[in-house]
Amino acid sequence: KQEESIRPQRFADYIGQKDLKDVLEIAIKAAKSRAEVLDHLLLYGPPGLGKTTMAMILASEMGVNCKITSAPALERPRDIVGLLVNLKAGDVLFIDEIHRLSRMTEEILYPAMEDYRLDITVGKGSGARIRSIPLVKFTLVGATTRVGALTSPLRDRFGLIQKLRFYEVDELSQIVLRTAELLQTPVNLDGANEIAKRSRGTPRIANRLLKRVRDYAEVKLSGEITASIAAEALQLFQVDPCGLDWTDRKMLTVIIENFNGGPVGLETIAAATGEDTQTIEEVYEPYLMQIGYLSRTPRGRVATTAAYKHMGFKPPNEQLSLL
Ligand code: ADE
Repeated sequence: KQEESIRPQRFADYIGQKDLKDVLEIAIKAAKSRAEVLDHLLLYGPPGLGKTTMAMILASEMGVNCKITSAPALERPRDIVGLLVNLKAGDVLFIDEIHRLSRMTEEILYPAMEDYRLDITVGKGSGARIRSIPLVKFTLVGATTRVGALTSPLRDRFGLIQKLRFYEVDELSQIVLRTAELLQTPVNLDGANEIAKRSRGTPRIANRLLKRVRDYAEVKLSGEITASIAAEALQLFQVDPCGLDWTDRKMLTVIIENFNGGPVGLETIAAATGEDTQTIEEVYEPYLMQIGYLSRTPRGRVATTAAYKHMGFKPPNEQLSLL
């Protein structure tokens, strides 16, 4: 329950993602003034940046309900049919991990999105007929970490396709201060900043680290979360000053020590860290690339000079002269 109440409920409380908010505020105002439903919206980007939260805010700003589901829960056609026929006019249907829809579910969605119509096959063989059932107008909000994995017919049915980007440290710092107030945890600005710097550009991580630091501060009987308390606590949890955890550091160490800086194949990195390739690609690599520690080349992953320095290795000379 606490999890739910720390999500911002309105646009005004949602920190960061300014470009996205600008686009959506226009879409909401226009839809409202024409008394129409919002266009279908596809949100993509790394996990934890606020895609679900944004869908819930859209619904509340439009004054409609938000039904939340995810592609793995829509295995059978009847799962999606049940959701669609129960929507009220204008409702938001949020489907997380939408790149994982089964083929049949996806095909039910095409006419539902385009014409607000369900096409159901009744009967078998030569007697099979398609029956069409009208649906109320609704807004589909899809979320994915892999926009490239969507089929083009599905992607083409979204009127708006928007990317969420990593947050700046000052934005994360504001988020930490906001959450700390909701959790009634005293934290000063430097303490919030220290947590923000170690949050990999991701609000979900910032809020998670805040809770770990809060535990630490309570056990150590320190009144307020300061920068040094936050740093001590996060060091204990193996989160380094850049926010890199054990897996990030293992990835970089393997590339640098065992493969001379790369290129190294994804499978090799996955095996060395014990993570699956999808998690490496969708969770770990985006941030390491964002901060310039890793690059993806056609032949594999390469550690940059900045990564050598961060990990305490002397950068190889030929790489120095290249950069
Ligand atoms: N909590 C998590 N994400 C947030 C955001 N973008 N703004 C405010 N609070 C948040």
